[in-house]
Amino acid sequence: MTTPTTALPSLSLADTDPADLTVDAVVIGVHSQEGAEGAAGELLLASGAESIAAAFDGKLTATLALLGATGGAGEVTKLATLGTITAPVLVAVGLGGEPSGAAPAPETLRRATAAAVRALAGAKKVALALPLSDDADDTGALTLRAVAEGAALGAYRFSGYKGKPSASRKDPVTAVSVLVPDAKEASANTEVKRAAVVTAAVARTRDWVNAPANLLRPPSFADEIAAVAGKAGLDVEVLDEKALTEGGFGGILAVGMGSAAKPRLVKITYKPAQATTTVALIGKGITFDTGGVSIKPAQGMWEMKSDMAGAAAVASVMVAIAELKPAVAVTAYIPIAENMLSGDAYRPGDVITMRSGKKVEVLNTDAEGRMILADAIALACEAQPDYLIETSTLTGGQVVALGKKIAGVMGSEALAQRTKAAGELVGEPTWPMPLPDEIRKSMESDVADILQVSAGMERAGHMLQGGVFLREFVAEGVEWAHIDIAGPSFHSGEATGHWSKGGTGVPVRTLVALLDDLAANG
Ligand code: BES
Ligand code: MN
Ligand code: ZN
Repeated sequence: MTTPTTALPSLSLADTDPADLTVDAVVIGVHSQEGAEGAAGELLLASGAESIAAAFDGKLTATLALLGATGGAGEVTKLATLGTITAPVLVAVGLGGEPSGAAPAPETLRRATAAAVRALAGAKKVALALPLSDDADDTGALTLRAVAEGAALGAYRFSGYKGKPSASRKDPVTAVSVLVPDAKEASANTEVKRAAVVTAAVARTRDWVNAPANLLRPPSFADEIAAVAGKAGLDVEVLDEKALTEGGFGGILAVGMGSAAKPRLVKITYKPAQATTTVALIGKGITFDTGGVSIKPAQGMWEMKSDMAGAAAVASVMVAIAELKPAVAVTAYIPIAENMLSGDAYRPGDVITMRSGKKVEVLNTDAEGRMILADAIALACEAQPDYLIETSTLTGGQVVALGKKIAGVMGSEALAQRTKAAGELVGEPTWPMPLPDEIRKSMESDVADILQVSAGMERAGHMLQGGVFLREFVAEGVEWAHIDIAGPSFHSGEATGHWSKGGTGVPVRTLVALLDDLAANG
């Protein structure tokens, strides 16, 4: 059984009057306006809603207020239009306080649009009459991008495996048109097409992350990646356990041999003719992390089906760039293994010879991510790329330090800053973290070249331990970044904004933006 793929709604542009559109619903924006001297605030219609307001004869804000609308960010108010406009349903989505610039911040729009589209499940065609910046520069493109991405991601729902869908479940919206001043404008069309490709990559990542680990084991995950990447026209190579043994991938084998489903390493190549900059992308593909012999507690262990979120993101990004065609050569190296317990499982105290030749002393089999990543990093560096970007659900320490929404980034200072900037641009925040010397000192082994974690399994700064360990396998002269997504890649709560329950697709949008930056600026 292959992982179900979630189709997102079609995205298009329109420049017709929203009051006359034959659609199931029209979405407008409302702001909360600060009241004078402690008086209650008033609702303010966002730009884009002018013709709808006229059709309501000046009574729209009063009607919305009567229904409880306050303009708070992401608040959704629905009303029946009773013939005032052509569409039978109007949705007012809160955009928070009045923006200081021409339009709300892109992330405010992305979340609000997603909330509105999610609330419209059951409707088929929806039009969005939302405030977009009309700057010809980046801000204009970014608000349109945010609305288009929000619309697509708000409609994401993993199909799951129920024999019979629950009766109350309504199908997500299938078609969204975004109202703009000129629907033929080339840059606006490019932006919407890009949003469709990027959100499809996010959806693909979420689907893989949401798939249960019994249905997505290393060989089948590798096969699914190869099938999808091959279909996108990319070159794909899959190393199986025999090839991994011959290649001396000791880290991947140590982790993977405890499972009956043997490990894999997938290599995907995207090489446009005009590219001069070369990038290696690496993603952690642990299809399930029991912790191994250093077993995890039962509570919450089910979420470890998401321990391949980095691999899913990297594979999906490769498919996206096959379509977006940035002028940069990218090779993905995706190590995939299942961290299980068995008579063949690796153990604490083992000394492992890695692909690079370095010897690693294992203290905790639950620090398996760095073992498979170190081999993938070593292989990637054999080709001497200009940049190496790796992402992984590496440490609970990331969640402790930065929470569930902000990823940690470690590596070369300049690339870490560019990663942070790319994340800011797309609404996937990332924060740079240090790689202190004393952490490296705490990883001296009595018998091998390096300990896999700090001596005595000291947990202080353990996100940094992951970064320091991986640095050991990055070749001289390669600028690198390690993005720890343990928190942001999985959303345990109910759907909100553009986050659905389960896999989030982080950091797909960051990686696409970062590759755009590297393509444009080297
Ligand atoms: N996959 C986990 C990290 C993780 C934790 C991801 C929570 C998502 C949510 C990783 O393999 C792991 O177990 N890390 C250990 C590292 C430790 C043994 C140094 C951890 O976080 O405790
Ligand atoms: Mn682990
Ligand atoms: Zn793990």
